[in-house]
Amino acid sequence: MAGGWAATPLPGDIRLPAADLAAARRARLSARFPGERLIVPAGELRVRSNDCDHRFRPHSAYAWLTGLTGEDQVGHVLVLEPDGPHAHEAVLYVRPRSPRVGTEFYRDRRHGEFWVGRRPDLAEAERMTGVRCAHLDDLGALPPGRDASQDAELASVLSELRLVKDAWEVGQLQLAVDHTAAGFEDVVRALPRALTHPRGERWIEGVFALRARAEGNGTGYETIAASGAHACVLHWIRNDGPLNPQELLLLDAGVETDTLYTSDITRTLPLSGRFSPVQRQVYELVLAAQEAGIAALKPGASFRDFHRAGMRVIAEGLAEWGILKSAEGDLHRRYTLCSSGHMLGLDVHDCAQARAEAYLDGVLEEGQVLTVEPGLYLQPDDETLPPELRGIGVRIEDDLVITAEGARLMSGALPRTPDAIEAWMGELMEK
Ligand code: GLY
Ligand code: MN
Ligand code: MN
Repeated sequence: MAGGWAATPLPGDIRLPAADLAAARRARLSARFPGERLIVPAGELRVRSNDCDHRFRPHSAYAWLTGLTGEDQVGHVLVLEPDGPHAHEAVLYVRPRSPRVGTEFYRDRRHGEFWVGRRPDLAEAERMTGVRCAHLDDLGALPPGRDASQDAELASVLSELRLVKDAWEVGQLQLAVDHTAAGFEDVVRALPRALTHPRGERWIEGVFALRARAEGNGTGYETIAASGAHACVLHWIRNDGPLNPQELLLLDAGVETDTLYTSDITRTLPLSGRFSPVQRQVYELVLAAQEAGIAALKPGASFRDFHRAGMRVIAEGLAEWGILKSAEGDLHRRYTLCSSGHMLGLDVHDCAQARAEAYLDGVLEEGQVLTVEPGLYLQPDDETLPPELRGIGVRIEDDLVITAEGARLMSGALPRTPDAIEAWMGELMEK
């Protein structure tokens, strides 16, 4: 079986769009660890059940430093080898395409080309990345170094280097946002059918997933499709409930591009197409909080400013409604539960290993991309609330990039005011 096979080279121009950017990123990392061997693994397959694995997605730091984002990166490792006292040489340890001699091609169900498809050979991987490539089997001979999967300091530096996005990354995030907006439109169009299904939340999850998988790599995180009081569960991903036309639907979903950048958007929609007066009252308070949060975004502002600005509006609103005696203090947190935004990028909660002084206690910088997502979660069994408010959950989440003057709303294609949402739903559901 080893003979009689034609050569099947990849086309000539296979250099990755992010190859040059990745080289610049490696240089920034190199400058932080002079003389040290740095190891950044793509990661390994995880068993889902018996002999079936979860779909593989390379670690975000590996993707950022190599530009390689495919499922074929299983087990691959980037090494930055010290090259003199002030520089490193990058070497990528990869499993090249399966040879037709030996058993891998036919027998290896995890890595064999017959089972999982073709990988680049070493020369092709070099042309794609601009990085010297070696066989993964040679990795074992290396002396140990700092490994990003175990070394907290290296992981934290990598998170911090990723905080500010370059123009290409902002473009990828915009693409993720645009596909996500299309997915939200698909969901609204599908509502009449979803309303008739006993697990309408699941129907919605499926409709969004179709768009995410067709346009990109899939969803960037598990979709939250929460109808009625399910919206008061922050990460409602069971999505096994029916849809009641008198209630709201909280949909928190994001498409991840093939380049692995994700969007993270929430809209809370009236399933009847029209907000009831009490739904509108809650919605408008959350929207006012979000507007206040967005207005606080600018380079040099504390990261926590937008959250504080939004929570101030919520506390004042709850005091006006008579639910809180005063807007002072933090009693409003019973109804808001969590912080109202985070960095966004290759990970939905991006740069999470950054030190507090560089992120949570730091200041915003031009080029950072983040979410602003205040919410009110009025639990169905909360006796401090008037009965008509119980069981209403509203979150409004948008994606923004910090600019020299303030921030640009990336997800403005999706309506946010109650009137605009009603008009948008009416149009889509008529068609
Ligand atoms: N979807 C998770 C979040 O909004 O942070
Ligand atoms: Mn979010
Ligand atoms: Mn979200």
